[in-house]
Amino acid sequence: MTIDDFVVLIASEEHVKYAKTICDEMAESAKARGTGIAKRTPEYVASKMRDGKAVIAFHKDGTWAGFSYIECWGHGNYVANSGLIINPMYRKMGLAKAIKTKTFFLSLKMFKGAKLFGLTTGQAVMKINTELGYRPVTFSELTDDDEFWHGCESCVNYPILVSKERKNCLCTAMLFDPEVDRVQAPIKASKLFEIMDELQNVKPVEHSKE
Ligand SMILES: CC(C)(COP(=O)(O)OP(=O)(O)OC[C@H]1O[C@@H](n2cnc3c(N)ncnc32)[C@H](O)[C@@H]1OP(=O)(O)O)[C@@H](O)C(=O)NCCC(=O)NCCS
Repeated sequence: MTIDDFVVLIASEEHVKYAKTICDEMAESAKARGTGIAKRTPEYVASKMRDGKAVIAFHKDGTWAGFSYIECWGHGNYVANSGLIINPMYRKMGLAKAIKTKTFFLSLKMFKGAKLFGLTTGQAVMKINTELGYRPVTFSELTDDDEFWHGCESCVNYPILVSKERKNCLCTAMLFDPEVDRVQAPIKASKLFEIMDELQNVKPVEHSKE
């Protein structure tokens, strides 16, 4: 099995039926890792799919393989790529890299000029983000939109974030500012072109709070 056995798509209404499976896997994986995570509901994940603000991957046999979505904050000036999850059957094959790459370019296209950021404890995500052109930053460089930080309330590490007055926590913050950071080439060219194809039709959205 290789990365070429998978398709990576912008999610839509037809994928809503996978929302619960995706949320269950997010919760299971967080439990297994013993790390904190913001909880997501199937309704929330489904809304991201309907809005075209999510990327989903399938094995060519039709099995759900992975997922990630976009959130915008601070009136669209900040965009987070969140909720990355890969079906345990298909890990360590470059699928997270492919999904994050598509989510990254989808974000740049939908939210022109916005700064992209993410919070993570995961080494794989830090590696992929670095390859895309993100750099580690202090929390003060992220959005000050309270709605975003409310998302951390369901994380087991939330008391730490509060005790540090939101200045830091166990997650590493990473930022990509399109004005200053250059896009790197994260995955092999053939898959990248395939991934970019579907983005031709994506229109930028108005900058407004979700
Ligand atoms: C973390 C996760 C998304 C990685 O998915 P994946 O498809 O296996 O990742 P990829 O195959 O694209 O790997 C990308 C890079 O990270 C590395 N990597 C993958 N899993 C890793 C791990 N657990 N620890 C350290 N490095 C890892 C890979 O070796 C690869 O590096 P390379 O480019 O030098 O080869 C997946 O294990 C997962 O869904 N975990 C549970 C949920 C989670 O942790 N989500 C992230 C929340 S921030």
